[in-house]
Amino acid sequence: MDVFVVQIIHDRKAVLLYLVKAADSMYNISNVFQNEDKRKKGRITMNDVLNAIMERKSVRNYAQVPVAAEDLRQIVQAAIWAPNAMNKQGWHFTVVSDPALITKMSDGCRKGMAECPVPFLKERAASENFHAFFRAPAVIVMSIAEDKFSAFDAGAAAQTLCLAAQSLGYGTCITASTEFMFAGDPGLRDDLQIPEDYRFICAITLGKETDGPDDHVRDRKEDVITWL
Ligand SMILES: Cc1cc2nc3c(=O)[nH]c(=O)nc-3n(C[C@H](O)[C@H](O)[C@H](O)COP(=O)(O)O)c2cc1C
Repeated sequence: MDVFVVQIIHDRKAVLLYLVKAADSMYNISNVFQNEDKRKKGRITMNDVLNAIMERKSVRNYAQVPVAAEDLRQIVQAAIWAPNAMNKQGWHFTVVSDPALITKMSDGCRKGMAECPVPFLKERAASENFHAFFRAPAVIVMSIAEDKFSAFDAGAAAQTLCLAAQSLGYGTCITASTEFMFAGDPGLRDDLQIPEDYRFICAITLGKETDGPDDHVRDRKEDVITWL
């Protein structure tokens, strides 16, 4: 009797397995489930774009080698193709590769931070190794028009720029704290030729990554996505 029951169960399992396999070969169900599972865990099929997104990280150690002019041009050119509300393109990119100007910007930032009331920023400005732009050979200062969606647009452009840079083998770091450079040296607004009525939104450092103390493992919260 027991053997008979086991045999039925076994047969049913075999039939079920057969049906699942048949359906899978017709509709590729297991792939669908696997992909869903991987998506939920944040691990998905990789291609060049997805690889670039996953591998991009904020780089804070730069080799002291200039960025090739053609690469710089291509990277910034990519940024202006970012999506933006009503195609208003209310953004401006000031591309700085003059080391003397980058040093001036960093000095302005150090001064602005040193004079601000926030203790950890004061402390950072006092550090011997302080460099607001991590000694990057190029910095792209982004400014935006006062418009409801300009900041959103700038975010899309910034990420586009970072991914374009990544694809050409460069590291980047978006920085907003560098706004202190204007408090420390108000003349920088003119030096950087920020258009009238535009305001600073961020500065993006750019260059070849090198080893250094700021290497970090990227991490993300897992509970910020709701799957229904
Ligand atoms: C709007 C914005 C402002 C940021 N400002 C700074 C900054 O002032 N200094 C800095 O070192 N990193 C800054 N970052 C980089 C973040 O710290 C970084 O993106 C975050 O820690 C996640 O790390 P990941 O970019 O390596 O994935 C900024 C990033 C964004 C998007």
